Amino acid sequence: MRHYKHLFEQLYSDYSRLNPSVKKINELFKSCGETIVNDHIALRTFSFSSFNLDSLAKPFLEGGYKVKGFYRFNEKKLTAKHYEHEKDALAPKVFISQLEIKELPKEIQVIIYNEILNRIKQVPAAHNLIHAGPLWGTPDYNVYLKLLAISEYAAWLYVFGFRANHFTILINHLRHFTDITMVNQFLKQNGYVLNTIGGEIKGSKETYLEQSSTLADKIEVEFKDRKHLVPCCYYEFAMRHVMPNGKLYTGFNTDSANKIFESTNTNQTD
Ligand code: NI
Repeated sequence: MRHYKHLFEQLYSDYSRLNPSVKKINELFKSCGETIVNDHIALRTFSFSSFNLDSLAKPFLEGGYKVKGFYRFNEKKLTAKHYEHEKDALAPKVFISQLEIKELPKEIQVIIYNEILNRIKQVPAAHNLIHAGPLWGTPDYNVYLKLLAISEYAAWLYVFGFRANHFTILINHLRHFTDITMVNQFLKQNGYVLNTIGGEIKGSKETYLEQSSTLADKIEVEFKDRKHLVPCCYYEFAMRHVMPNGKLYTGFNTDSANKIFESTNTNQTD
């Protein structure tokens, strides 16, 4: 059995290499004497019959994780599950979503099958699939635009493929930052732009989870016939609160997650 920590190391090395802000934000917190604890990561996929959300979950399940929550985002045509490690409470949670292809317009389904699924030569083993990038090769800019018009999620996934969409700093474990507003102020003072859809803070103490996120870094993507800047991954910040039963809330809030998804929206980052 592969240790689950190895999965996060591989995902983090890809994530921090691709997104220049990640290391800088980590350094910023470390320079204040903080140790960073990762609350959760998020992975994205299409719902193909040959591989889907459950395929990405496989290496985590083998590493001691159990499914703990189910989510549905009707407007975005997404379903998601979240996983927690059974024994290690400090292990990052894993949030995996999938785009329900059959719910998309027929012409978009055809594009996804022709330009994505049919171009995959081989699906790697699950522990490699989670950070395999776009298995369908160099993206085509016109295909990207067609997907973008219907689903920002589909367009992002087409360009970046399988990799961590974000990591999350758990504010509860920071020593000098006692609430999410302090964290947001600190990020803004240091020049970072936050996702403001639905307000900077998603959720509340009453829903036991407060979240905020940076806007994704725009990186230069090499398409078949041109280069173009596309929002890549973002950093999330989460503060978890104690429920009436005395336990720390470990789940996710559908309404907040729906807004956090917008951190890779090109319109917001233009
Ligand atoms: Ni998240």
